[in-house]
Amino acid sequence: MTDNARVLVLNGPNLNTLGKRQPEIYGAETLADVEARCRRRAELLGLQLTFAQSNHEGELVEAIQQARESMAAIVINPAAYTHTSVAIRDALEFAELPTVEVHISNIHRREEFRHHSFVSGVADAVIAGAGTLGYELALEWVADRCGRVAREV
Ligand code: DQA
Repeated sequence: MTDNARVLVLNGPNLNTLGKRQPEIYGAETLADVEARCRRRAELLGLQLTFAQSNHEGELVEAIQQARESMAAIVINPAAYTHTSVAIRDALEFAELPTVEVHISNIHRREEFRHHSFVSGVADAVIAGAGTLGYELALEWVADRCGRVAREV
């Protein structure tokens, strides 16, 4: 693997309220708990993590644009923007990085409006319904993918 491959884990709107928000759907962990477990897993996998959250679509777009030059991969939970944002999809297409879309809940078992994702069409992998473990599974995928690419070059 490329040593210390840099990974951006990006979280969309309302994910800052994890732990308080609909715990029956999203669980009891806070976003800080999720960050901590991601950091532990990233260290085991030899990945260097940047963990961020924004409630603003433009900030998410800018973070993705910047990732193009500075990151090896993106793990993104676009939250509600999953279902509305062509801008985030376009930014991910521009970034041209290995991308994993993560949802804590199984969006396909929920309301109809959550079934469509603008992001899935530009993501390499999609993880939904695995709870916050989904973030760690995404990092496993990134490590495997980065390792494979490194072995191939
Ligand atoms: C979510 C699912 C979205 O539909 C919702 O708007 C979120 C969180 C998830 O992680 O399950 O905010 O992305």
